[in-house]
Amino acid sequence: MLKISPAPLPFPKWVNKFLVIGASIVGFGGAYVLAVAIYAAAPGTQRIGYAPKQPVAYSHLLHAGELGIDCRYCHNTVDTSAQASIPPTQVCLNCHANIRSTSEKLIPIRESYATGMPVEWVRIHDLPDFVYFNHSAHVNRGVGCASCHGRIDKMEVVSQDQPLTMGWCLDCHRNPEKHLRPLDEVTTMDYVPLEDQEALGERLKAEYKIRDREKLTDCSLCHR
Ligand code: HEC
Ligand code: HEC
Ligand code: HEC
Ligand code: HEC
Ligand code: HEC
Repeated sequence: MLKISPAPLPFPKWVNKFLVIGASIVGFGGAYVLAVAIYAAAPGTQRIGYAPKQPVAYSHLLHAGELGIDCRYCHNTVDTSAQASIPPTQVCLNCHANIRSTSEKLIPIRESYATGMPVEWVRIHDLPDFVYFNHSAHVNRGVGCASCHGRIDKMEVVSQDQPLTMGWCLDCHRNPEKHLRPLDEVTTMDYVPLEDQEALGERLKAEYKIRDREKLTDCSLCHR
């Protein structure tokens, strides 16, 4: 007897299950891509761990950590203005005209010097334009770089350490005494208070004439 098998389905039944799983992966993947796109499009407030590749393999671990160069040698406007400044090529050549002067890693620095075109460092920390921030106001009131940037001296490549959200700013503005240090310790990366932070903080708060909580949480302080 001739056996006629049923017309074959385009796919065996069990495949359907996989199509469902596959579709949901695609769906989830889509949502994920969207989430990442939104996240990436938002200014750099919540990008903890954001560490873009830089045009030169400059290492804070080596220069600020092992060699112990003070932050202000390169970020020399950090205690006098709102911006911290990224050093111009000449600052690198103060040393690299002689040290490792033929290093391949320093080719972009030598090219920048020869052409006069600045190195295009990729910005890492980036608040939205509607927020006012000022470095000197913090650095001259005993808030250390490490409170906001983490242990830069341990970073081969700089990455964002804190969320930089409004909630994060306000957290400190409500209780700044927890974070105040003597002024000569602001760039010390491994700073530990010599006395009880509570007592020290209260004393420094009075000494630096820090505004009260009301003024430090006033909307117009940061949204001008
Ligand atoms: C020899 C020069 C030099 C020294 C010293 C130095 N930096 Fe930098 N810093 C740079 C350069 C160049 C960049 C830009 C490239 C990069 O991000 O690595 C930078 C970037 C940064 C950034 C990220 C800026 C952004 O785009 O958001 C932070 C934060 C920073 N430095 C903090 C520090 C701190 C804190 C110290 C001291 C512990 C320090 N730096 C010491 C040269 C220096
Ligand atoms: C105060 C001196 C000093 C300054 C300023 C300085 N460096 Fe350096 N840099 C050094 C020393 C010392 C070394 C280590 C050399 C060695 O390993 O023998 C080094 C190493 C390097 C290396 C690794 C080179 C290699 O071949 O391995 C790079 C890249 C570099 N520096 C980039 C920079 C950049 C970019 C700047 C400016 C933002 C800068 N440096 C500023 C002293 C300095
Ligand atoms: C109270 C928090 C805080 C402290 C303290 C602080 N920073 Fe920053 N830093 C920021 C924020 C926020 C940004 C991003 C600013 C923006 O987008 O306008 C930033 C940006 C930077 C940049 C990029 C250039 C710029 O000015 O935007 C460098 C370099 C930098 N900081 C270095 C330092 C160094 C060095 C110290 C210590 C001497 C320090 N910062 C102390 C919060 C801080
Ligand atoms: C770790 C603590 C700390 C963090 C984090 C912090 N601040 Fe502050 N901020 C202070 C202190 C302390 C002062 C000085 C207050 C004073 O002098 O009365 C200050 C002052 C200010 C001022 C007044 C500046 C001026 O011109 O007088 C502004 C604006 C400001 N902060 C914005 C911000 C923003 C925006 C953020 C978040 C991106 C932030 N701060 C994060 C501690 C902090
Ligand atoms: C210490 C500084 C600081 C103070 C004070 C402050 N803000 Fe903000 N604000 C920020 C920062 C930084 C951002 C951007 C980062 C973020 O969106 O969290 C922000 C973002 C915002 C946004 C945009 C919201 C969003 O999700 O993007 C609004 C609206 C806002 N603030 C309103 C206020 C109001 C209203 C007050 C007073 C009750 C206030 N802020 C006080 C720092 C501050």
